[in-house]
Amino acid sequence: MFKVIVIASGKGGTGKTSLSAGVATALADLGRRVLVIDGDSGLRNLDIVLGMSDSVVFSFADVARGVVALEKAAAPHPAIERLSMLTAPVGAPALSENGMRLLAAQAQEMGFEYVVIDGPAGLAPELRAFAQIATQGIVISTPDSASIRGAERVARLLEEEHIMRVRLVINRIRPRLIQYGLASNVDDAMDLTGLQLLGIVPEDEDVIACGNSGKSILRIKKTGASLAYRNIARRLEGERLPVMKV
Ligand SMILES: Nc1ncnc2c1ncn2[C@@H]1O[C@H](COP(=O)(O)OP(=O)(O)O)[C@@H](O)[C@H]1O
Ligand SMILES: [Mg+2]
Repeated sequence: MFKVIVIASGKGGTGKTSLSAGVATALADLGRRVLVIDGDSGLRNLDIVLGMSDSVVFSFADVARGVVALEKAAAPHPAIERLSMLTAPVGAPALSENGMRLLAAQAQEMGFEYVVIDGPAGLAPELRAFAQIATQGIVISTPDSASIRGAERVARLLEEEHIMRVRLVINRIRPRLIQYGLASNVDDAMDLTGLQLLGIVPEDEDVIACGNSGKSILRIKKTGASLAYRNIARRLEGERLPVMKV
């Protein structure tokens, strides 16, 4: 089945780009053909995290406007099989629902099984355009209250666009926080957002190191955030897995 997953958050810096790169890579490793789109116009950096700064030329806005075919615009990852990426435009694009549908239709025609969209932070207008073509949403938040409140607002926006399934990821969980009652914070986040938990990602300094070097964390370790991204990909594939221990 063809799935379009939009990754969103209330606040910036909650881990959308790291999650997009990690989950897209993990899905490709599971044998899926994946197109990952940098949807954060103006602040694009998914190409850096994926180590693809040299290979991106066309943006998703070029495809949505019909300037170029997706086949030409999607850049295959140099080392990760089955993974291709589409970058974001430098300025803010005017996106029409039809343009986004054109993009999605081409992705499906090319045989992609997943489109993963690294969305903009907050309630940006582009988010609505992405939500219109998304079949699923992921809202990602850090464990602090301000981030959770933002997540709640974005969850409502995605629901307004009638996305069938929106789930929650809590990122940067630290064992010490759990000791001081964070476990209930995850519960609170689920209660406040009304979303089902798709996964938790531990605080892991290799996310930062890998993001800077453009090397996939999935290629350097099997534990920590790497395992968390793999688990999330397997849940997207329909597997039932227990929440990881940190
Ligand atoms: N689980 C994590 N552990 C440690 N650092 C993280 C984790 N997730 C994200 N980061 C770091 O936090 C910063 C923001 O993450 P990023 O994925 O760029 O967020 P966003 O796309 O939401 O702005 C980056 O420096 C990234 O390396
Ligand atoms: Mg980002």
